[in-house]
Amino acid sequence: MVLLFLSPDDPADAWRAELQARIPDLDVRIWPEVGAPADIDIALVWRPPPGELARYPNLKAILSLAAGIDGLIADPDLPDVPIARMVDPSLTRTMTEYVLVAVLRHHREFDRFERAQRARDWAYAFPPQTADRRVGIMGLGELGSAAARRLVAHGFEVLGWSRSPKALEGVVSYAGHSELHTFLHRTDILVCLLPLTADTIGILDAATFAELPHGACVINVARGQHLVEDDLIRALDSGHLGGATLDVFREEPLPSGSALWAHPKVLVTPHVASYSVPATAADGVAANIRRVLAAEPLLHQVDRARGY
Ligand SMILES: NC(=O)c1ccc[n+]([C@@H]2O[C@H](COP(=O)([O-])OP(=O)(O)OC[C@H]3O[C@@H](n4cnc5c(N)ncnc54)[C@H](OP(=O)(O)O)[C@@H]3O)[C@@H](O)[C@H]2O)c1
Repeated sequence: MVLLFLSPDDPADAWRAELQARIPDLDVRIWPEVGAPADIDIALVWRPPPGELARYPNLKAILSLAAGIDGLIADPDLPDVPIARMVDPSLTRTMTEYVLVAVLRHHREFDRFERAQRARDWAYAFPPQTADRRVGIMGLGELGSAAARRLVAHGFEVLGWSRSPKALEGVVSYAGHSELHTFLHRTDILVCLLPLTADTIGILDAATFAELPHGACVINVARGQHLVEDDLIRALDSGHLGGATLDVFREEPLPSGSALWAHPKVLVTPHVASYSVPATAADGVAANIRRVLAAEPLLHQVDRARGY
């Protein structure tokens, strides 16, 4: 079995070592040193150049190094083989941690105190208790449900919105477009953990912000294309929104001319909300390699028609 590893951002040698520790006879070719394209059985990838995966005539499966596969399926030449997305404890743990930090920062108003400090303003005021702060999570999948559980454990009132209703202890579940309005009305801190699809692109826009209560905060850790950046800036400047934490952007790296960099109510982080480490993520990848060998369905297989 020959695996092509293609990622500009992941540690290729560590991945090879972890995979070969689990499957000793696995031949790992690190792009662009691929040898004969016809040798390649499986591709393990993050952001391959469009058209690249069409070069491998015997490709049997694509394993994504990322949880989101919107970039992959946007490739019009992508081979028609099963795709699995990344699900990994380290990815889930780091995302949960980021969401908790970002929610707490808005909840305890550190963003406001940072601005007050710069103005030498002794801004003495206490925030509400966690039980009186409503955190709404858009997307209750692997990452959203883990974040929701952590926020419930921390005492927040937690709401979730997904395509199908969910039964998560302590989380009020809303589903589908018809319940979005009620979900947004009841959300003080909105966290976006949706996949990027035709249905969710641009969902963080003026109409959505208008449904949130005055002073609400927005955390986007999903994809930059979920957010209409100009709408966010207008909602922040008007005072309707209290603040935003953004990890993902339409254009990455965020251009130096973007108004988001210097906006006093925006925290920018460079797409670092979560990451998987080969030491743990290789378990799931190896399991899927064995499934390809056994001609079994992949774990965490993407539904291309649904887009996630
Ligand atoms: N910033 C980062 O570092 C980073 C890292 C990892 C992932 N991400 C992003 O996080 C996203 C989520 O990852 P995941 O592993 O949690 O995905 P997932 O397990 O596939 O969960 C997706 C969730 O979104 C819901 N959903 C999808 N389309 C919807 C729609 N039209 N309306 C309402 N709900 C909808 C799904 O509803 P159902 O449950 O009803 O199907 C599901 O609950 C990824 O796609 C990626 O873009 C970002």
